[in-house]
Amino acid sequence: MPPTTLNDFQSSAAALDRAASDAFASAGSADTLEKARAEFLGRTSGRLLDLQRLVPTFEGAERGSAGRAFNELKTSLEARLDARRIELESTARASRSDVDLTMPARRQFRGAEHPVTLVIEEIVAIFREIGFTVATGPEAETEWYNFTALNFPPEHPAMDLHDTMYVAEDVVLRTHTSPVQIRSLQAGPPPIRVVIPGNVYRLDPFDASHAPMFAQIEGLAVDEGVSFVDLKATLTHFAQRFFGATRTRFRPSYFPFTEPSAEMDVECRLCKGAGCAACKGTGWMEILGSGMVHPNVLDAAGVDSEKFTGWAFGMGPARIALQRYGIPDIRVLYDSDVRFLEGLAR
Ligand code: DAH
Repeated sequence: MPPTTLNDFQSSAAALDRAASDAFASAGSADTLEKARAEFLGRTSGRLLDLQRLVPTFEGAERGSAGRAFNELKTSLEARLDARRIELESTARASRSDVDLTMPARRQFRGAEHPVTLVIEEIVAIFREIGFTVATGPEAETEWYNFTALNFPPEHPAMDLHDTMYVAEDVVLRTHTSPVQIRSLQAGPPPIRVVIPGNVYRLDPFDASHAPMFAQIEGLAVDEGVSFVDLKATLTHFAQRFFGATRTRFRPSYFPFTEPSAEMDVECRLCKGAGCAACKGTGWMEILGSGMVHPNVLDAAGVDSEKFTGWAFGMGPARIALQRYGIPDIRVLYDSDVRFLEGLAR
């Protein structure tokens, strides 16, 4: 090893630094990088080793400087080597094709609309065709909207704690969608033609035909000169559209908010009127309550009952869904068993 000056040593170190850095940076694969590593940092014959062998040829303070310069160079080249190795690995990983484009897609879970939702949409669509719009209202109502304005006498049993869910002294979970009649009447002067879908709550236990929460659709038509003929004609039209050519009948009934009141039946779909278990042997299926809006209701809502008349109805789409889809127990509609709901998907 020829003796050398510290200056020569330092410029050799700088030259080696550049050469090694270039070699690492231009290595395009793990193999070429490994060759560059062996050339410069190889333990038995690398070019850095040649430089290291010069260190002991210096004396005293110069040996210390040469040693430090060598150590710095070695550390920095090792760091560059590692960084380039990581870089090459990550580009290799990104371009490697792990994706098998021929693999069959995983089966997607497809949601389906609930049978009650389907029935509500269908009913609402039929009323839209004949000029009704859709209104909604809050599910927590004051006693006034839910009962008083609808002409319930103050001590009516429906207001009892046993039938109605109270959320505060004067606030109930609405027991029907009829309070939205009042809200619709208050919203603006007649003519009014609205259908009102929504959930209602009663203190009923779950059984085959009852649920503590269920959907209703309310209807309201108020204008000058509206009569019972409009009620019958419109509801019969609805039944024909929804159930197909079918017989209907109206039976007298009672509701505090209508006078006169009527319930509408359609011929049982299952037995065609012969009488079966589903219609309890009558051949008829009750689908809604209805009547001429009581003048007290119009007055409570601030509508002149001398000038305007109207009719209203309320029906339960869950019951209608049972009929339509041949479901024997209303609880099935609330079980959220997707195997059942999937079977109904359109
Ligand atoms: N609100 C009644 C109920 O929940 C249903 C009803 C009957 C609504 C007659 C009406 C109606 O609008 O006219 O039992």
